[in-house]
Amino acid sequence: MPSRRPLVGGNWKMNTSRAEAQDLAGAVITQLEPSILQACDVTLFPPFPWLTAVAEATCSSPIGIGGQDVSDQSQGAFTGQTSAAMLIDAGCSTTLVGHSERRHGLGESNAILNAKLRQAISAGLEVMYCVGETLSERESGQSEDVVAMQVKEGLDGVPAGDLDRISIAYEPVWAIGTGRTAAAEDAQAMHCRIRADLENQYDARSAKGVRIVYGGSVKPSNAESIFAQPDVDGGLIGGASLDAEGFVEIIRAAASMSAS
Ligand code: PGA
Repeated sequence: MPSRRPLVGGNWKMNTSRAEAQDLAGAVITQLEPSILQACDVTLFPPFPWLTAVAEATCSSPIGIGGQDVSDQSQGAFTGQTSAAMLIDAGCSTTLVGHSERRHGLGESNAILNAKLRQAISAGLEVMYCVGETLSERESGQSEDVVAMQVKEGLDGVPAGDLDRISIAYEPVWAIGTGRTAAAEDAQAMHCRIRADLENQYDARSAKGVRIVYGGSVKPSNAESIFAQPDVDGGLIGGASLDAEGFVEIIRAAASMSAS
């Protein structure tokens, strides 16, 4: 990961009570050496109701917090939605957009995800934009085309000047929460393809600066080999981020790549 600072996100999904969320954030902070945080960006994505509690727990540390989703609307009669401004007010610096559990689980299209991403960026948030193919798309040889289209349509209308506030999480759907991980070389091949597509859509310099992280059953035992790939700039961690010790080990693996 030559010039890009590693980035690790902990996606807690719909897990933790308020007390567990505060304890988990506290344990991550306590266990992470300051030198690791100097070498790696860390963001926690707690459930919405615990954002302010986790913001309080993390406020004196460099660990950032983010939303798991954001509305494509700025405000108004949108029951159940959360705006980018609300996320910022709750202490977030970033948000996920397009996680597969929304993209595939709830049927969110590239067009709606593009609207969410642009709304978040224009409000001042950073975005971790998630992409990835399903098992049937992979088995029918469509992975690269599907991901290319998700990147192209998701970033439609986003100027090059905003790319430094966007990271991409490549998360093959068949690897999320299944215990199956993409082979490190397969992850590298897809990350490389995404970067090439960004270069075509923008320019070489911008594409080189975008952090592309891998997600899907990353754990302490496989983090190092995945993060060692030249175009893998860290990870988006689901299940393993609910255990502070394991999550911290994964962060250490990412941080060590920036030193190597
Ligand atoms: P997992 O989830 O690490 O549990 O596979 C990753 C994600 O959904 O972001």
